[in-house]
Amino acid sequence: MDRKNKPSAIPVSPFAPQPIVDLSDNVLTARLPSGDSVTVYLYGATVTSWKTANGTEQLFLSTAAALDGSKPIRGGIPLVFPVFGPPPQNHATSNLPQHGFARNNLWEFLGKSSSESLGSKADDSVKLDFGLSPANLDEATRKKWPYEFGLVYSVTLGKGKLGIQLHVQNKGDKSFDFQALFHTYLAVKDISKTAVSGLKSSPYVDKVRSAQTFTEDSSSLSFSGETDRVYTPPTDSKAEKPLVTLVVTEGGKESFVVTRDALPDVTVWNGWADKIKAMGDFEPKDGWKRYLCIEPGAVSSWTKLEAGDAWEGGAAYESKL
Ligand code: BG6
Repeated sequence: MDRKNKPSAIPVSPFAPQPIVDLSDNVLTARLPSGDSVTVYLYGATVTSWKTANGTEQLFLSTAAALDGSKPIRGGIPLVFPVFGPPPQNHATSNLPQHGFARNNLWEFLGKSSSESLGSKADDSVKLDFGLSPANLDEATRKKWPYEFGLVYSVTLGKGKLGIQLHVQNKGDKSFDFQALFHTYLAVKDISKTAVSGLKSSPYVDKVRSAQTFTEDSSSLSFSGETDRVYTPPTDSKAEKPLVTLVVTEGGKESFVVTRDALPDVTVWNGWADKIKAMGDFEPKDGWKRYLCIEPGAVSSWTKLEAGDAWEGGAAYESKL
């Protein structure tokens, strides 16, 4: 039967702007129709640039960062796996370099999903997936950490937002212990006018004070010297996955909102003048004034992954600038 007032299909414009994704020379760039953009080096799957629609760079990248695969990239978002900091002695990670091997090996680009396939109505986000497995490591590194693992790292660019998610799979027949962390260098205008709220009452290990444990008594953490702390905020025991929000302010105005998904810890790091002076790949030398690392992770203890099991943790950065 031919209905007189039958509903017609909602017209979809074939010209609706789509995210543009380009991969050349192992560097991936993605741009949303809004103008938001992200750059990811396959080396380390390191995000080196995240710009919001007005073109403002949200991440700090050293002008002396090695971008040729000779060493981890200084700035952006290096990925830390399977050990955070210098590996402990007599441990399965003991022979690995500081912060592990994820940040200094070439990842594979697995593909992109646009808003439509992510269940959102508008074309306002794009998800980029990267993978790392023993097949991507050289023989020497495989020997240093002889486990069958699979990592999938997802970077989701949205309007004013960047989501990052790490999926770890144990594909072997023996369990392994790991730590993981997103070592995000946020760009700030002036570290002395920058503060972080959301950490009050949180225990933290202060690496600048002999790795002793303290409890944060300030509702607004400000910076006046080298800061290197691993916070483990208490979580609501009823919550299955802790979703904890931190707010970065600059001159009293909100600049970033950082949420953590199923990640118990967050490292807050600024090396300050002297430490940065000694870092050969950190330029300009006064650049310590213009970055703050807010590093969500699972690093205060080891996560044990049984054979065949998987783990996932993530974070999201929202720019308020
Ligand atoms: C931070 C650590 O996460 O990374 C600091 O807490 C360390 O102790 C910093 O100095 C930089 O590490 P790297 O290996 O990139 O020089």
